[in-house]
Amino acid sequence: MKPAIEIRDVTKIYELAGSKIKAVDGVSLTVQAGEFTALVGPSGSGKTTMLAILAGLLRPNSGQVIIDQQDLTLMTEAKRTSFRCRYLGFIFQASNLVPYLTALENVELMLKLNSKTNQANHERAKNLLIRLGLGERLHNLPGQLSGGQQQRVAIARALVHEPTVVLADEPTASLDTERAHQVVETFAALIHEQGRAGIMVTHDLRMCQYVDQIIQMTDGKITRLINNRAEITALAKGK
Ligand SMILES: Nc1ncnc2c1ncn2[C@@H]1O[C@H](COP(=O)(O)OP(=O)(O)OP(=O)(O)O)[C@@H](O)[C@H]1O
Ligand SMILES: [Mg+2]
Repeated sequence: MKPAIEIRDVTKIYELAGSKIKAVDGVSLTVQAGEFTALVGPSGSGKTTMLAILAGLLRPNSGQVIIDQQDLTLMTEAKRTSFRCRYLGFIFQASNLVPYLTALENVELMLKLNSKTNQANHERAKNLLIRLGLGERLHNLPGQLSGGQQQRVAIARALVHEPTVVLADEPTASLDTERAHQVVETFAALIHEQGRAGIMVTHDLRMCQYVDQIIQMTDGKITRLINNRAEITALAKGK
């Protein structure tokens, strides 16, 4: 089976006031459909840069970024924008919901952007929110929801259009520990059930207990890859 995400020898150099910063340095990785990967590493190690490259928001200096067998680095800007909308879902540090739309309307916005507003998809939006424990909150505005509830709406929004890839940059940064566990546990379950390829950047190693693979970055390089359950559990427990 072809991987959902395949990155080959990707390098990204930022030029800042005459100096060059190698933020990503020859990274290769694969993520299968239905596989959840955590990207960890110290501040400045290149995690967000890596996600931006995967999202097609940033073009690498060299290397290939292949999602669903299509190379993002060969696409025009316009093609990448429509590709991103169709094949990718995003969850940010803060939920970034539209404040004047209800929970359900925020999720359905992704369907509108993809011209997928039929009855079956409308039902899927609703069912996703119910699955995420928000059945009583469908018609509430984001301002009427707790941080954890808002982040669960963001998860529904990232999954509703059935993307190949879901990217999350520190999705639990604004949540307390209990809510963080609930959010990531449900997120992981949905990734597994629906066969999406998920990548989550996190500083919180405890959140790694829900993933299938941990990739550690240091100075732009992958310095450790853990995909063995016992080792993942040990790391998540701080051992
Ligand atoms: N737009 C930019 N221009 C120049 N340098 C940048 C830019 N964005 C990031 N960098 C540099 O690239 C390196 C990697 O940054 P990046 O944001 O990817 O790290 P990170 O692992 O996400 O860090 P954090 O955990 O703090 O979010 C850092 O040295 C950073 O200063
Ligand atoms: Mg970052």
